[in-house]
Amino acid sequence: MSELLIVEDLRGYYTGAYQVYGVDGVTFSMVEGEILGLAGESGCGKSTLAELISGAPRPLLLYESGKVQVHEYQIYQMDEELLRTEVKCKIMSYVPQASMESLNPVKRIIDFIMDVVRERTGKKESKKEIYKLAKKHFTRVGLDEDSLKRYPHELSGGMKQRAVIAISTLWNPSLLIVDEPTSALDVTSQKQMIKMLFDLKQKGIIQSILFVSHDIASLRQICDRCLIMYCGIVVETGKMDDIINDPLHPYTEGLVSSIVSFNPDGTKPKELKSIPGNQPDLRNPPSGCRFHPRCPEAMTHCKQYEPPMIIPPHKKDHNVKCWLYKK
Ligand SMILES: Nc1ncnc2c1ncn2[C@@H]1O[C@H](COP(=O)(O)OP(=O)(O)OP(=O)(O)O)[C@@H](O)[C@H]1O
Ligand code: SF4
Ligand SMILES: [Mg+2]
Repeated sequence: MSELLIVEDLRGYYTGAYQVYGVDGVTFSMVEGEILGLAGESGCGKSTLAELISGAPRPLLLYESGKVQVHEYQIYQMDEELLRTEVKCKIMSYVPQASMESLNPVKRIIDFIMDVVRERTGKKESKKEIYKLAKKHFTRVGLDEDSLKRYPHELSGGMKQRAVIAISTLWNPSLLIVDEPTSALDVTSQKQMIKMLFDLKQKGIIQSILFVSHDIASLRQICDRCLIMYCGIVVETGKMDDIINDPLHPYTEGLVSSIVSFNPDGTKPKELKSIPGNQPDLRNPPSGCRFHPRCPEAMTHCKQYEPPMIIPPHKKDHNVKCWLYKK
């Protein structure tokens, strides 16, 4: 399968009294057809990474260096107009965290869609054409036509979130980036959202998903592979099952053991553990391995030297940034 997304040594920071590197040298890639999870505690830089990949960082977030390539498009080397009209929504669509609040409260969903379509395509499609497109797409993704005529406040949280995802996939983008699409939802709506994402891919409306969530339990329901982020960098990547069943990085171990497990056979679930301490201040990240102040296995040299990304023997698709695996 060919590569869909390539991210190489990406760096971006927030401006202000201090420069805060929310993403501080991230490298990974995705192949076509893949559903990739991006997990980590609150504040580790997941949304910053998603935003930088989308090529639409908010005003305070600045791209510093590195490569983001989707298909043949190099996001930070292309003309902004081309990025807006050719790449955004059509090749790669980004649904930011809390995006359901981005729906205009005084506009019906269909009127919001009219604005989005005209802004993205730069053309003046007729209302009739846009309605036809929206109706066909909403029906395809399991939302009824009636929701197009509603105002956002007339929809439940789950419906609003699904409407936002439907709008973001109107042009069948190859890559959908969704940031915390399930976080603000109740359990039933979370399940519907995950099913919708799965169906979008099964029906060939989208090819791949970068699913950002602090909730590994949601990611494990749908992702093929997962990236674990800590303090602005990626510390482990691997198949989703391996991340859950055989986490390598002490931080990932902590994340995984904080998932509530339910054993249908009645055996006792594993003991829940939490990771001691908090995410460090990104204005001044710890030296060496950034996890060392919280790591139960820290060694003397961990404080001084940053570990490289290591592929442990017999673990071809599993990478970990930790000295424990350096032979
Ligand atoms: N506007 C801003 N100015 C300065 N620092 C910021 C700004 N927005 C975010 N940050 C910092 O950047 C870091 C990464 O934030 P980010 O929102 O990407 O984390 P996250 O992993 O998405 O967290 P969450 O799970 O809570 O959504 C955090 O330490 C945060 O404090
Ligand atoms: S490199 Fe050292 S401090 Fe960092 S996670 Fe591994 S053992 Fe812990
Ligand atoms: Mg976030």
